[in-house]
Parts: sequence; structure tokens; C-alpha cells
Amino acid sequence: APQRLEDYRPYPFAIKEVRLDVTLDPQASRVRADLDLTRQHDGDLVLDIGKAVTLDRLAVDGSDLDAADWTRKGETLTIHRALPQSFTLSSEVTIDPAANTTCEGLYLSGGIFCTQCEAEGFRHITPYPDRPDVMAPFKVTIHSDLPVLLSNGNPVAQAPGRAEWSDPWPKPPYLFALVAGDLRAISDTFTTMSGREVDLNVWVRPGDEDRAGYAMDSLIRAMRWDERVYGREYDLDVFNIVAVDDFNMGAMENKGLNIFNSKLVLASPETATDGDYERIESVIAHEYFHNWTGNRITCRDWFQLCLKEGLTVFRDQQFTSDMRSAAVKRIDDVVTLRARQFREDQGPLAHPVRPDSYVEINNFYTATVYEKGAEVIGMLKRLVGDEGYAKALDLYFERHDGDAATIEDWLKVFEDATGRDLAQFKRWYTDAGTPIVTMKEDWDAEHGVLTLSFSQQTPSTPGQTDKPPRVIPMAVGLISPNGDEVLPTQMLEIDQAEQSFRFDGLATRPMVSALRDFSAPVVLRRELTDADRAFLFAHDRDPFARWEAGRDLARATLLAMLDGGAPGPEYLAAIGRVLADRDADPAFLALCLRLPSAEELAQARSEAGHTPDPDAIHAVREELASVIARTHQAELDRVLTDTVPAGDYSPDAGQAGLRALRLAALGLVTRIDGGARAQAIYDGATNMTERAGALAALIAAGAGQDAVADFHDRFKDVRLVVDMWFMLQAANARPDRAVPLARELAAHPDFDWKNPNRFRALIGGLSANHAGFHAADGSGYDFLADWLLRVDAVNPQIAARMSGAFETWARYDETRKAHAKAALDRILATPDLSRNLAEMAGRIRGAA
Ligand code: ARG
Ligand code: ZN
Repeated sequence: APQRLEDYRPYPFAIKEVRLDVTLDPQASRVRADLDLTRQHDGDLVLDIGKAVTLDRLAVDGSDLDAADWTRKGETLTIHRALPQSFTLSSEVTIDPAANTTCEGLYLSGGIFCTQCEAEGFRHITPYPDRPDVMAPFKVTIHSDLPVLLSNGNPVAQAPGRAEWSDPWPKPPYLFALVAGDLRAISDTFTTMSGREVDLNVWVRPGDEDRAGYAMDSLIRAMRWDERVYGREYDLDVFNIVAVDDFNMGAMENKGLNIFNSKLVLASPETATDGDYERIESVIAHEYFHNWTGNRITCRDWFQLCLKEGLTVFRDQQFTSDMRSAAVKRIDDVVTLRARQFREDQGPLAHPVRPDSYVEINNFYTATVYEKGAEVIGMLKRLVGDEGYAKALDLYFERHDGDAATIEDWLKVFEDATGRDLAQFKRWYTDAGTPIVTMKEDWDAEHGVLTLSFSQQTPSTPGQTDKPPRVIPMAVGLISPNGDEVLPTQMLEIDQAEQSFRFDGLATRPMVSALRDFSAPVVLRRELTDADRAFLFAHDRDPFARWEAGRDLARATLLAMLDGGAPGPEYLAAIGRVLADRDADPAFLALCLRLPSAEELAQARSEAGHTPDPDAIHAVREELASVIARTHQAELDRVLTDTVPAGDYSPDAGQAGLRALRLAALGLVTRIDGGARAQAIYDGATNMTERAGALAALIAAGAGQDAVADFHDRFKDVRLVVDMWFMLQAANARPDRAVPLARELAAHPDFDWKNPNRFRALIGGLSANHAGFHAADGSGYDFLADWLLRVDAVNPQIAARMSGAFETWARYDETRKAHAKAALDRILATPDLSRNLAEMAGRIRGAA
């Protein structure tokens, strides 16, 4: 039965303190818990308990309960005995970390004991009210012969075989963590703004120390940034980060003990790309920022997940903008939002930023909750201004420190700090779907008046048909025919279904630059000619709007080619100007050179009422790339020679931008040179960015057999690079080769499918290969269904997450649809499906 937001009830008991005593053993770890409980409301004492937990003993105030005093059913444990107002509940359980393949609860990763408790993993460690609004200070004792024993908070005592930790800050159980193993630290210290010294450690496996430096550097910059920009200081004596190889997601913000997927910690120039470095920096910051937005202030229930995730993503985006190029970061984020969140909103999995029901909460760690959740905060900031935002955030931290809060609390803080009524704005949290905004221009030449008329409409989403108008901040500027800015950016507030804005006193008809900085997560429709788009691409002062004009030109070109047209002169000339521009940021130019993805084109086709044809989309992208390469061969060659960074490798934005431009140019020329240049760059590469980029270009051109073999040879002992090897092949293989190759790779001895990174590399790589995955014969769908079923039996979270590749099935032709339906039905008919995969496959299949 689904959980519902409206059914929230406070827990009947408060917990004054939790004492855990854990004796580690691979097959039989013992956990004793003592909870000091006080009754707050009427109601039974009900605890959550995982099915694989063996309950050895239960006691109240030291006296054992017998079987008649409690009932265990499914995942709940109910105690019937009469209870005093305050008492200590003790439990002793046995668990088997070695048998736990789910990467949830307590499990083993390469000999390291580690935990993952968000969202509902703590119940697999000990019986507990496993909900975020039950917060308590924890004291933890760990018994084990392993050399490093870690938990949350501050170290209290360490002796051989034993460690004690104390976390004074009340926390929800999902932030509990424990790690034990043979680990090495790279260490540093940080002095906080009030002068307290904090010990920092990044823990890795012996031998990996020399790849942990960038993570530490990122952490220190994040700590300083959060003090400077948000006034937030760290609150414990130590901050530990641990890298593990088996992890279902990116990382986890456990209080004082963040646990990371090793992919987001370990980096060296030879083994990690510029993109990997940037992600490490941003995820290290993200998890650190959770200390205030998530941990000190947490969520009342899981419906409020965006309260911590949307805000923390917004904060990590601000951090990256400050560390690197704000313009490039904004464009990158919009590209990702459209590829993942717009796609989600368009299909059967659409849900509000704050969902109001779920079957399995792990299925709601989505692009909508995270990325659209961050966009909603960006809009709030635009509407109340920087100062209003700063006041609201100060009030939020002051008013809600120590609370398990809601979206209502969050919005109230903005209302109280700024006096603005946010009742209508709240629809961004409660209503699913991407609004489509249509803009029309009316020019009155006689009076020099431009009228902009907007209408907004949000398509229906599952369970929601009525979509009243939202508040949409629309940033516009006006540009004169000679390219001057005649009206700098204005924030128009659209809050009606139809609404007009007048601009008077204009000498000549201006060009309108709209949705500057992507001021709202909407689809903007307006009528532009290629010449208009080229004008904006040449003259817009707003970097996002400028890039968008170029992107729109590319998109329009590709869509016209799908209808049989040829690439027009405007687009090719615009690309020529990009290649000749020696003043602009190379990273920005690289973004301008990149073609819209196949997924973006499929979305555009289906939004316009057509059935997207994956093979045709692949063909026009290939064709346009070759046309560009033939038209601008000399300039592309010049870019390839001019973009070799001087000096030693550094992952900074400057060097990374040069390499991005170089690889964008390489991707184009590889279409016409048979791979000669890519092979040369591959052979001469001194860093992974160029090596992997050249390999991807070779594979996409149907070449690179030797390079593929060489790559494996060089890096066969570096797990994270072997992941890359699988991913690069599956994602870049030519469409007709993709599924056969994926099958071959799945039989490779290195395809350790129980490792989440390895599974994601191959299966996720194929899913990202648009025309390959959507093969007309349904082989991609069958391959995915086979592997989802196989992995579901060992790791339901991974199965459910990867099933999202099916979410767009209903947009394709009847043949593909029939194959996809059959694959989904086969999944749904399988006995003993996890709740995770059953919910996902059911929701996806439910459409059309
Ligand atoms: N809170 C973590 C983060 O945002 C992610 C946890 C994901 N958990 C999950 N069950 N999917 O960094
Ligand atoms: Zn997060």
C-alpha cells in the first residue's frame, strides 16, 4: 500500500539517547541497542525491523520481554506491554553483512564494513523507529580487530579492538554510519571561523592515498565557502570521508562520516577525466553542505526530501559557479535538467517536486526532486532578490536548527523574511509537469511600443490533470538591431494563464532575449527565423541566452533535416564564428559546438506530436557533424593545435575548458578523417581526459579496435578505469553494433555485475546509446530486462534505478512499443520482484 503525505502522524515517543554496541563479524555481527524513550503522545510502541535481522532479545528497563509481549510482522515490531512514561528499551540482534548484497544497511565492500542508511536502511541494523522525525544523540561502541573503526561524531576512546564514538547532535537514523577496515587516511586540518580546529581525513584503501588529494582540497574549499557565503560553521572535532567501491549512489552525508562511492573521491590525471574532477569537487561540497541543510535541519518525512536535496543541490551549484565559470555551469545544469528532468516530466514517472505518495521511497531520489528542486529555489531567489534570499536563509537556520521540517516551514520563512505571499508559488512543489510558455511579440512602430504576450499551459501528468497557472519569473532583455542592449535584464513575473507586458519609448524594433539565465524550468515557445537565432547567438549579452540561441539553431537545423531539409547557411556560418572566436571562454565555445543530444531531439519530436525515429535521429546528427567538419576543416585543425594547455596537467576550469574545446573539435573531424587525428591524440595522451575523449571519438566512428584493446591493457588493474572502458564502448558503439557488443561485454571476465559501478557502466552505457538501446528489433529492451531481473535479486535499488531507461517507451513507433511492452510485462510477471522494481516497472508500463 502506498504511503501518503496526508497520513503523517507524529511518533508517540521521543528518544533522549541511543547507545549502540556493535561487535563486527562478517557472517554474524551482533548489535545491542539501548534507547531511552519518553512517551509524547498516545499510541503503540512500533519499531521498524528488516526481514533479515535475527532478534535475539528485547527488554524494557532491563527485564526481558517474552514472546507474548511483542509481534513481528513484515518489517514492523509492535510491543504490546504496558510501558512507563520513560524507560529504556534494549534489543540484541544478529545480522549477516557478508550475505548482504543490497548495499543498504551494514554490508561488506572489498573487506571493508560500511553502512548506507538513507532512506530506510537503519532498520536492517537494529530495530528502531526508522523515520527522519525521530532525532536523537548517539553513542556508539565498535568491537573489531580491524585497524580503523569509525562512526558518527567525535572519537571518545580508541583501544586495540575497540572504539567509542559520541555524536552530540540529535540526528535521524538515516544519518547513522559505521565503517571498519584496513584503511589509510590522508589528513589535514581546518580552522573554523570561530577558531576551532577540525581534523579532516579522507580514508581510502592502502595504495590509493595518492589519488585522494583533490577530494581533500575540495573539502577545505567547501568548508570555507559555506562559512563565507552562508555563515555556516562545522560543528564537530573531526570530519571523516571514506571511499568504498560498492555503493548504490554517489555519496552519503552521514553526520561527521560521509561515505562515498570511490568514483567520487579517487582521481589522478592518468585515471580521471576533467569531468570526474569537477564531479568530485561538487559532490564533496554537496555532502558537506548537507551538514546544515539536511543534518542540523532535516526532513519531517520523506515527502519533504526536496527540502534538503533541492536546497543542497542549489548550494553545490552556487559553489561550482564560484569555483569555475558561472556561465558554463549554468548551461551544463540546464543541459542535464532537460535531458533527465524534462524527460521525467514528459513520461509516466512524472511527479511533483514534493510527491504526495510513494510505494518505495528509494524510487523518488529523482531528477525532479533534486534538480527541479534546485531550480525552484533559484526561482525563489530571483523573485525575492539576493538580499531577501539571504535574510530568509538566516531565518531558516535560526528558526529550524534541530528540527525535522517541511516545505511549509521553508516557504513560511521566505514569507516572514520578505513579506511576500507564496501561496501560488507553492504550486511548483505540489504540481508535476513542465509548463509550456508561449511568447508572442507585437510591435507598434508608430508609437515605438513592444508588447510581449505570454501564455502558459502545463500538460497533464499521471494523477494530475488540473494545472492552474504558476508564478514564472521570466528574465528578458531587449537588443537593438546593431547589437546594443537597449533594455538590460528585467524580471517579469508571469502569474496568469495569459499576460502581457509593454515596453515603450523604443526607437526601432528590438530583438527580444528571453528566459535569460534560464530563469524558470519551462519550455519556451516563440517564433524565430534562423536569422533571428543567429542574431541572438552573435549579440546576446546573457551567456545562457546566447548559448541557447545557438542550440536552438542547431536543434531547428536537425529537426528540419529530419523532415528532409538540408543544413542552412545560418547555422554553418554561426559555427564558423564560434571556431574563429579567440576571445571567448573555450569551455563556452565547446558547449556551442556540441550538437543537441539524440534524447533532446526525440523529446522535441514527441513534443511536436511526431513519433521520434531513433535511427533517423542518429543519422541526421552524424550527417550534420560531417557537414560541419567538411565546411570548417581548416578551422577545426587550427583548434586542435591551439588547444594544448601549457604546463603540467591541472583539473582547473581553464585547462579543462581548452581540453573540452579540443575534444568537441575532435568529435567533428573524426567523422571525416577515418579516425587518424583521434588515434594520434589517443597515442600521445598524457591524461585521461584526452585519452578517454579520443577513444570515445574512435568508437563512435566505428574505429578504434586497437585503442580499445590498448586501453584495457594499460588500465586493467584500475577498477574505475575498467568501468570507463565498459561504459565508453556501450555508450558510443554505432547503433547496429551496440546490443551485440553489450552482450559480448557482459560475458567479459571483468564484468563483475554485482558491483554497482560496473553494472551501471555497461547497462547504463547501453541505455544512454539512444539508437542502440532503442534497436527496432527490441534486442536492447530484452537485454535490459534480462539484466534488471538478474540484478533485482541481489540489489533492488540498482535494478529500479536502471529501469528508468524504459520511461520513454510510449513515445516510439508501434513495433518498438510492442517490444518494450513485452519486456516490461515479462518483468512484471516475474515472481518475487522487489518492491523497488515492481513499483517502477508498474508505473512505467501504466502509461499509454
Ligand atoms: N542523500 C544522498 C545525497 O544526496 C543520497 C542518498 C540516496 N539514497 C537513496 N536511497 N537513493 O547525496
Ligand atoms: Zn544530497
